[in-house]
Amino acid sequence: HSLHGSYTTETNFYGGNDVFDLIEQYGSPLYIYNENILRTRCREMKHLVSYENFVPHYSIKANTNIHLLKIVHEEGLHADVMSPGEIYLALESGFSPEELFFIPNNVVAEDMLYAIDRNIMTSVDSLDQLELYGQLNPGGKVAIRFNPGVGAGHHEKVVTGGKKTKFGVNPEYIPEVKRLLETYNLTLAGINQHIGSLFMDGAPYIESLGSILSIAKQFDDLEFIDLGGGFGIPYHKQDGEARLNIKALGEALDPVLSSFAKEYGKNVQFQIEPGRYIPCESCALVGTVTATKTNADHDYVGCDIGFNVLQRPIMYDSHHDIEIYSRELKEAPLGPLTVVGNICESGDILAKDRMLPLTTVRGDLIALMDAGAYGYSMASCYNQRFRPAEILIGLDGKVRQIRKRDTLEDLIRNML
Ligand code: LLP
Repeated sequence: HSLHGSYTTETNFYGGNDVFDLIEQYGSPLYIYNENILRTRCREMKHLVSYENFVPHYSIKANTNIHLLKIVHEEGLHADVMSPGEIYLALESGFSPEELFFIPNNVVAEDMLYAIDRNIMTSVDSLDQLELYGQLNPGGKVAIRFNPGVGAGHHEKVVTGGKKTKFGVNPEYIPEVKRLLETYNLTLAGINQHIGSLFMDGAPYIESLGSILSIAKQFDDLEFIDLGGGFGIPYHKQDGEARLNIKALGEALDPVLSSFAKEYGKNVQFQIEPGRYIPCESCALVGTVTATKTNADHDYVGCDIGFNVLQRPIMYDSHHDIEIYSRELKEAPLGPLTVVGNICESGDILAKDRMLPLTTVRGDLIALMDAGAYGYSMASCYNQRFRPAEILIGLDGKVRQIRKRDTLEDLIRNML
């Protein structure tokens, strides 16, 4: 736990900037991103396999700040989008319609038309939505999300493959799929799947290939097959958690992709849809310690990071490593501290009995690490607290503000 009690982290995450200065200038709490880490993760995904016709699509729901999206686009990734809002943001950040893949779930006609009108490849998730698509765009191209029968994920709320989920068309309905394609003269250009979010072991991902590739063989005109996302990141770095072995995963994927292409007789494009993996580790959410106290059995550290700012701990019991920064380096014996936010619900807990410096006091800073995915994108104004500002530390260490913090006017803007 060498990271506690000082504010120079091992990775020099803040690019040589003083975190206290950053908080003073941009306000607390603050989402702080590191461009170098973001680009590194993009490149790892870009070079996952040596199979040539391979395009990673960043699933932008993880983080939709357009300045970060521009960087991801510059790195040559395409994007997966789930809603007209995500389409809008992706186009605004420079992605072309051909670089987008729309994978909605249970949408109204208006949403589908938003993609169809812009020539964005769309995947449907049920026979019913396939029929709707056919009615809206007869003679067009479409993709279908299948349920591979295999699921994985860090919490049952984010497992999206297998029997227990609402997602995907079960392969047993392929005859009905074919009938609908024929009725509306649709071409099935691609198939996709997503087994769930955050696997640290590539085995279920590789296992799911068998099912999607055997589905693929039942259609003749596929241009692409999308294997899904879910690539995990180590949230327990302070306990020495190992990284997902990307190289081994790529090596396991490669021969499967090539041999499929050979058998299919076509250099079909393979896609993946990593969300979390791209921005997650490029971000620390830094807030301020506002009070410490002891209540019954627990010693509490209160701070200004409520679950409106970072929902993951309350929503999925997620762990984020915590660093405490003090102005002076102190001898820091560790003890179990329960870190809580400023929202008026007792579930507003960031970490229970976490080993942290017992010297932690009001005015120290507290960083929740690996907050770049499903952090800001899931933030809200609950309790009429502001969503924070976001800043980006560039490759040269220079700081750029990429989002303002909310203001009082934002709270009332849409009220008539
Ligand atoms: N593709 C589809 C169709 C998805 O639904 C998702 C995520 C992804 C790709 C990207 O998954 P990733 O690579 O990020 O695991 N809020 C949760 C995660 C929800 C994921 C939802 N779907 C969390 O904070 O852990």
